[in-house]
Amino acid sequence: MHNDPAAFVIHGTLIHTPELGEIEVLRNALVSVDGDGKIAGVMPAGASLYPSALTAAKDDGTLVELQDGQYLLPGLVDLHIHAPQWPQMGKALQLPLDEWLQQCTFPLEAKYRDLDFARESYESLVDNLLANGTTTATYFGTVHLEATKLLAEIALSKGQRALVGKVAMDNKDQCPDFYRDESVISALDNTRELIEYVRGINGNEKALVLPAVTPRFIPSCTDELLDGLAKVAAEYGCHVQTHCSESDWEHAYVLNRHGLNDTQSLDRIGLLGDKTILAHANLIDDPDMATIKSRESGIAHCPLSNLYFSHSVFPARKALDFGLKVGLGTDISGGPSPSILHNCQSAVNVSRALEDGVDPIAAAAERGTPNARIDFREAFWMATVGGAQALGLKVGEFSEGYQFDALLVDTGVRDSNLVIWDGMDTPDDILQKIIYNAGRDNIAKVWVQGSLVRGS
Ligand code: GUN
Ligand code: FE
Repeated sequence: MHNDPAAFVIHGTLIHTPELGEIEVLRNALVSVDGDGKIAGVMPAGASLYPSALTAAKDDGTLVELQDGQYLLPGLVDLHIHAPQWPQMGKALQLPLDEWLQQCTFPLEAKYRDLDFARESYESLVDNLLANGTTTATYFGTVHLEATKLLAEIALSKGQRALVGKVAMDNKDQCPDFYRDESVISALDNTRELIEYVRGINGNEKALVLPAVTPRFIPSCTDELLDGLAKVAAEYGCHVQTHCSESDWEHAYVLNRHGLNDTQSLDRIGLLGDKTILAHANLIDDPDMATIKSRESGIAHCPLSNLYFSHSVFPARKALDFGLKVGLGTDISGGPSPSILHNCQSAVNVSRALEDGVDPIAAAAERGTPNARIDFREAFWMATVGGAQALGLKVGEFSEGYQFDALLVDTGVRDSNLVIWDGMDTPDDILQKIIYNAGRDNIAKVWVQGSLVRGS
């Protein structure tokens, strides 16, 4: 368990994106972090009290000095991870979603009834995500209550901010005998127990780890279970996470079963609220966007996963222009990378493919979707502020009153792919290069709520 951090002051250059599309760089700023892990103040180099604050921190031994070439970035928020799919990351990408679930994913997830296996897998996952700079992780667990409790404990013990959900799935037509909730009642009871357990874990008094009601997606759940889960979420006032209009098969399945699309159906059931995260949402239309906006729900854009399982690209530019709360998700293992920086790059790449189109046979004017591109600034905003807004957490930027979840990125690591040229690279260039070429070796330190959880 991480103890309360002592208050400290960081002296260095910070880069963040509090406003969508704009980078703010503060050179040689002072960031004061209080004993609760919150940002007490951010002082730019020119402030009148700056010299005395710097001297005071030096004198009382609480100053952390960044070196040349080191930058302070906000911690990264991953809005959509299937924790049990960690051993499958980077493989099994050849099948369509429905076959992939049945043949690869459900058999793997079923193994988490074995708590020794669950512990080994989840410890490795949380360590790796922290090393990649993911300070907030939004996890689907499995159908198993005990393994999902363990995931929450492991995230907490390693100091990662997390949302954790016991996956609910009871539909006999879509879920195999060896992997589903026994009944509606047991699924609801276990969901309630998980919520109460997570809220009460010893050491979680500051709610670093939060529970989430987690209907896998409409196809996996009976209507009775979906209705029950909406009531549990309202009763406990907790987050909800599910998949929405992810692929052609899934979208058509819901239309066929409910006569409504996913957004309409989830809304009718009462599962769309300001603490709901919808994963993917590739196939939502304009009225769906209006509904999602009016409910203040968030979207987890999972760009890499789009290419393999959605056969389409989420219209990120349009959703951002619409004012939706959009963050990024790795969708491990539907997406084959654990890195949110890598997914920033992928979000830019897929938006460019959407804008330009990809079929060389089509005429240039008919190939793509005009004005669909985003750039690295917007991608980084989604990876930090957008994810934070979607979850309703005060993280993702360096502002007074926000939690100090941060990365120290060292651009001076020898033999890394990140190469900065003094005098040639502007701060914007440096952020862009970090997104495109920083690896985990460049992430020298990671703090969550003021505690150093990686590096020394
Ligand atoms: N839809 C339902 N379950 C899953 C899953 O595990 N991964 C993805 N990408 N989509 C899903
Ligand atoms: Fe997913």
